[in-house]
Amino acid sequence: MSSTTLYGGASGRRVTVRDLAAAKQRGERWPMVTAYDAMTARVFDAAGIPVLLVGDSAAMVVYGYDSTLPVTVDDLLPLTAAVVRGSSRALVVADLPFGSYQTSPGQALESAARFMKEAGAHAVKLEGGRRIAPQVEALVSAGVPVMAHLGLTPQSVNVFGGYRVQGRGAAGDELMADAKDLQRAGAFSVVLECVPADLAERVTASLDIPTVGIGAGPATDAQVLVWQDMVGLTPRPARFVKRYADLGADLDRAARAFAADVVSGSFPGPEHAYT
Ligand code: KIV
Repeated sequence: MSSTTLYGGASGRRVTVRDLAAAKQRGERWPMVTAYDAMTARVFDAAGIPVLLVGDSAAMVVYGYDSTLPVTVDDLLPLTAAVVRGSSRALVVADLPFGSYQTSPGQALESAARFMKEAGAHAVKLEGGRRIAPQVEALVSAGVPVMAHLGLTPQSVNVFGGYRVQGRGAAGDELMADAKDLQRAGAFSVVLECVPADLAERVTASLDIPTVGIGAGPATDAQVLVWQDMVGLTPRPARFVKRYADLGADLDRAARAFAADVVSGSFPGPEHAYT
């Protein structure tokens, strides 16, 4: 399938959560990538990526922290607004950062409302199992589409003791029960991060809503990657990352060539100057 199938035909409208539900019914897989600024959002949107995630991974790839924990709603709001402005067809999902939804359903709604009102997000994502089902219910009944996130949920890295595969053995049954509870609470999809491929396959077969895999094998309904990982900007990407470009090396070459031209005086040339 071409991902443009999800692009609402000739109407030019944005992808909706109903389109994603229909794709699951048709057995169509779709891609999702992260985006944090208007220019890359425009490129991914034009390439036919139907869902853009303004991930709290921005903490690491935009803000330079070593985990997702420090980033705040105020940090992510302008990035989300830029991605919405840079795209015209994709559904834009905003990640609720650590500490912005765990306290109560009311806190989750306040945070989500800011992303929808101030940045124009079309949906939010939050991490956790049945513990946050009340938050999911409150958001959905207030009109906020929710993407859930199970498995290696990076906001809980300190509980996991590192970035490790989750859901092996009996923990797989727990994850399955969480996924069903989140679907019951009204989530429109669920990210499965770093879980065994056979567990992801069973969860995908058991749910009516689409699963989005990252390090979860080939059977999920969708796949997501952090864009900097996908194009070779991340120095040590995880095993589950496939590199589709080597922009790190290209940027390095460009920066060195520019520096050499400036030092030698060969840039700017006459064609770059005004008379
Ligand atoms: O923050 C993020 O980028 C994510 C994806 C990796 C799923 O949550």
